[in-house]
Amino acid sequence: MKLRSIELALPNAAEAAAFLTDIWGMAPAAVEGDIHYLRGSGSFPYLVALEESAEPYVRSTTFTCTAQRLDQLRRSVTAAGLVAAPVTSTDPGAGHGIIVELAEGELLRFLMDAGEVAPIAGPDLPVKLTHVVFNAADAEATGHLAEDALGFRVSDRTKAMVFVRCNDSHHSTAFARAGFASLNHIAFEMADMDAVMRGIGRLRDQGMAPAWGPGRHGPGANVFAYFIAPFGPVIEFSTAVEKVAEDYRVGAPEDWTWPAGRIDQWGLSDKDNAALREAEQKFRHRRDWQPQPLDALTEDNH
Ligand SMILES: [Fe+2]
Repeated sequence: MKLRSIELALPNAAEAAAFLTDIWGMAPAAVEGDIHYLRGSGSFPYLVALEESAEPYVRSTTFTCTAQRLDQLRRSVTAAGLVAAPVTSTDPGAGHGIIVELAEGELLRFLMDAGEVAPIAGPDLPVKLTHVVFNAADAEATGHLAEDALGFRVSDRTKAMVFVRCNDSHHSTAFARAGFASLNHIAFEMADMDAVMRGIGRLRDQGMAPAWGPGRHGPGANVFAYFIAPFGPVIEFSTAVEKVAEDYRVGAPEDWTWPAGRIDQWGLSDKDNAALREAEQKFRHRRDWQPQPLDALTEDNH
């Protein structure tokens, strides 16, 4: 299972795409109708889709997996009382599978047969997405649901978050104990720490300072620098997230405490909590399609 992409809808999608290519460091992949697709250096055809819309919202977050894993998912999603709605992707790379709406409206799409592309070179291109984090009214319940319905595993719990993995990367998603449901942030995997630092420099050239970072997290041990994108959401340069084994011991909040005045391993920067919290509320979940009837599900379940 791999985290592939996030599909956003927002006003002025072209401006957002220009920021992500000209300043953040992504490469244009395609423009289809009013959807801008942006890629990184890796083999996914795109990492971010930006569709023109009057209001900002998250259309979906997309994972790719094998046919066998998709079969397991159909069963576990249904057993957990959720709908495994069949979906055929019309985005670059195509593919087909299911889209699952979690309890607080998070829309997760799981695709098999999704095409990949040749990697491209570029030291400042993000490689891929490393995690997409959601705010939740009940992060604990959503963490359990991700385990039961999706076969994901909780890696760590902190006072702020429930970190969840879908492969050997410490987390591909997390649910923040926010009290409401929305997109918390999107993190881009950079090639190395220098690429993160050069990214901070590129944004500084535009008069933009990190809302938090650079720093190194506790859970996952990844390097981070968070920015508030001009088009609204919190976006992160990240690198070197920890790989974990099957038997990784699930950490509890008391395992992840800091000395007074510290909230990361380095202690280099302050965190602009107020600005981050505002940005974390901009993109809500919205389903812009109707779940198909059960016979369509059976048909797809060959
Ligand atoms: Fe992050």
